[in-house]
Amino acid sequence: MGSLFVRGSRQRWLSCCLETSVFWARLPGPNDHADPSHKCRWTQAAKPVRHRLRAPGTNLSVINRAFREGWGAVIAKTVSLDSSKVVNVTPRYAKLLAGDGKEVIGWENIELISDRPFAIWLDEFKKCKDAHPKGVLIASIMEEYRKEAWIEIVERCEAAGVDGFELNFSCPHGLPERKMGAAMGQDPDILEEVCGWVMGAAKRPVWAKMTPNITHIEEPSRAALRAGCQGLSAINTIRSVMGVNLETLRPEPSVEGWTTPGGYSSKACGRSRCAW
Ligand SMILES: Cc1cc2nc3c(=O)[nH]c(=O)nc-3n(C[C@H](O)[C@H](O)[C@H](O)COP(=O)(O)O)c2cc1C
Repeated sequence: MGSLFVRGSRQRWLSCCLETSVFWARLPGPNDHADPSHKCRWTQAAKPVRHRLRAPGTNLSVINRAFREGWGAVIAKTVSLDSSKVVNVTPRYAKLLAGDGKEVIGWENIELISDRPFAIWLDEFKKCKDAHPKGVLIASIMEEYRKEAWIEIVERCEAAGVDGFELNFSCPHGLPERKMGAAMGQDPDILEEVCGWVMGAAKRPVWAKMTPNITHIEEPSRAALRAGCQGLSAINTIRSVMGVNLETLRPEPSVEGWTTPGGYSSKACGRSRCAW
């Protein structure tokens, strides 16, 4: 996941490894005893992990493994209510090589959100919290522009025990035809409305994950904060086309000869995050 910035100046911060990136979670600070809000409760449990590890939070076994290895928190792979509408293809990654043709300096992926049924995810969230009550488990959620859907996904994830939410307004290739992901995150008015729905339903901390594929990232960021979100996460992948295979003349990644723009991750993402 992206780097997370939670409002508040006097907290100490914890670097922990999440799905495919690093985020920052808050450690208990000197003033935390004065904050009775249950929304801050999860931060008390976090255990520092200082390595920049990467592993996908794609299922219970991987998430459990991360906690066993000492991770303080995990953001699970993005979920939606109806996984039957999500079709992931293979292959879905392409490499960007440095000039020497050996070093990999970037990846394009066209992977969508999780295609595993929501009911299975709920069961896994519950099992994970039963096994690791002190581990901070964050649900990454994405839905269509429909109030009932956002409220339902929040309430059901909370009932399964998750400690907080990352709202995925950020995937550049994630279901734009349903106005999901970056398609929603590029429209500050819609984003603010959706964040407001979520904040009306959520009892746990919520942050919005931003897309870098916008001229002024501060506009949707401010919209999320105006709606009451406790934090922002920057950034998802950078919309890209990695290249064309000069032998086959097919674009990469190529799925039966076809492709679509995807999201670049790796070195350039880190620099963009720093620029913001
Ligand atoms: C294969 C792959 C799958 C991803 N899936 C998700 C996802 O489900 N939800 C999400 O918010 N971000 C997803 N991301 C984006 C990452 O969480 C991260 O924001 C992005 O890779 C940029 O950071 P990095 O360059 O440090 O990896 C995915 C990235 C990759 C490479």
